Amino acid sequence: MNVTIIGAGNMGRGIATRALAGGHPVRIIDHHTEKASALAADLGVSATDAAAAIPSADLVVIAVKYPATLDVARAHASELAGKVVIDIANPADFTTFDPATDPGTSAAEELAAAIPRARVVKAFNTTFAAPLETGQVDGRPLDVLIAGDDAGAKQATTEFVESAGMHPIDVGPLRRARALESFQIVHMSLQQGMRNPWDSAIAILTESQVTA
Ligand SMILES: NC(=O)c1ccc[n+]([C@@H]2O[C@H](COP(=O)([O-])OP(=O)(O)OC[C@H]3O[C@@H](n4cnc5c(N)ncnc54)[C@H](OP(=O)(O)O)[C@@H]3O)[C@@H](O)[C@H]2O)c1
Repeated sequence: MNVTIIGAGNMGRGIATRALAGGHPVRIIDHHTEKASALAADLGVSATDAAAAIPSADLVVIAVKYPATLDVARAHASELAGKVVIDIANPADFTTFDPATDPGTSAAEELAAAIPRARVVKAFNTTFAAPLETGQVDGRPLDVLIAGDDAGAKQATTEFVESAGMHPIDVGPLRRARALESFQIVHMSLQQGMRNPWDSAIAILTESQVTA
């Protein structure tokens, strides 16, 4: 699966690391080309630009902050048509930890509306960047909660997550992104009180896992 990541920041690094662990070719784009080149060199992949990287992608991850996600999508709308596009954004007001989206929608749904010919999936918004480098917290593979309306796009995302050593969980249609985003905003709001902030994960445990 050719994976193109737009945004060479914390999550760009984390998801690229997992993709490479799963054996997937990775291309990284950023509007700071030197930042994309530095991350690509660090990970041992080729630096590139959007014109080269998006058309060949099987899966495009938009790893920039909301609402820049919408600008990125609109700027590349024609290349993204028909592509599986993963929205990972957590649209929060970081002073109050309230959602930055209007009630009754989500960053993922806004993204899907901005690029109606793309196949938008919500995933990875509940996994912090640092644990993505190993794909685990406390020895357990990360749960990756996946929401979307396109069954094929969700299947591709599920296969990608599994191949990268994590545990995919289908949580339903794209509108479930509203809950996923709110859920993670609560998770983020708890970090200040943690001994190892930004190193926690949301997990869905069964009884056998708890007692294992
Ligand atoms: N960090 C986490 O643990 C975490 C966890 C789950 C989800 N997320 C979500 O993941 C997304 C990325 O977070 P992050 O922490 O990786 O952010 P980040 O470290 O700031 O990285 C984002 C990168 O994308 C670049 N960028 C901004 N606009 C762009 C554009 N139009 N075209 C190309 N590149 C652009 C940024 O450049 P500038 O510096 O110029 O803006 C920056 O280099 C956010 O939506 C966040 O809510 C983050």
